Amino acid sequence: MRFDILTIFPQMFSGPLSESILKRAQQAGLIEIVLRDIRAYATDRHKSTDDYPFGGGAGMVMKPEVLYRALADTLGMLAQVDAEPERLIPLPADHPPILLMSPAGELFNQRLAEELAQHERLVLICGHYEGIDERFRECCVDREISIGDYVLTGGELAAMVVVDAVARLRPGVLAADSTAEESHSDGLLEYPHYTRPALWRGQAVPPVLLSGHHANIARWRREQRLLRTLRRRPELLRQARLTEDDLALLRRSGWEPGTGDVTP
Ligand code: ADE
Repeated sequence: MRFDILTIFPQMFSGPLSESILKRAQQAGLIEIVLRDIRAYATDRHKSTDDYPFGGGAGMVMKPEVLYRALADTLGMLAQVDAEPERLIPLPADHPPILLMSPAGELFNQRLAEELAQHERLVLICGHYEGIDERFRECCVDREISIGDYVLTGGELAAMVVVDAVARLRPGVLAADSTAEESHSDGLLEYPHYTRPALWRGQAVPPVLLSGHHANIARWRREQRLLRTLRRRPELLRQARLTEDDLALLRRSGWEPGTGDVTP
């Protein structure tokens, strides 16, 4: 899978994307991350990527032509775009999804990560300042994505979060099965984990985990996932895939689906 990242700060990516699992995934050829410096596509002497907003107001706005040329190069159509500077050249019909990182976007979550991981290529644009020129967003952005209800200094950290969450879902990036029962994989939080020693400073591991009884362990873990989700993030239960047994346990534990947390 290939990620094209358009940014005015390509150096920001060198640490997070060149360590650990993402580093190995790139070395193994499972993912490719291509960084493109938006500033290289500026057309004026000062290489500016932003300008004052029409109508006044605080902050700066990213210029449409710089973004458009950076994107055109990413999609192999820069020569065509530069040959006709007065016209908007439509993007190829089969272009990869073009995602703009922005606090005004749809909220990123595991479901969206899974959806994006189905593609062989994604283009991520890191927004900056007050935002980007609306005409570029209208012509060229398929989806706006926010990683949370807070405002970052730019889209770079958000793009790293999206690349990380999507890349780890690609086949071969993690050991098989390791994404099966983790938090959010089916709308529930994860069960608690324990490792050796079985008794640590007087604190014992739950005996069922030492029993060797696989069915009991699986049941205990499922219950832990349900109870944790109920206590910490009850709103997630509305979207979770729940069995009759799950529902019975939740009701015994005080869950009232009628009060807004309706059963699916
Ligand atoms: N840029 C600034 N804040 C952001 C956010 N919360 N998500 C994505 N991009 C952003």
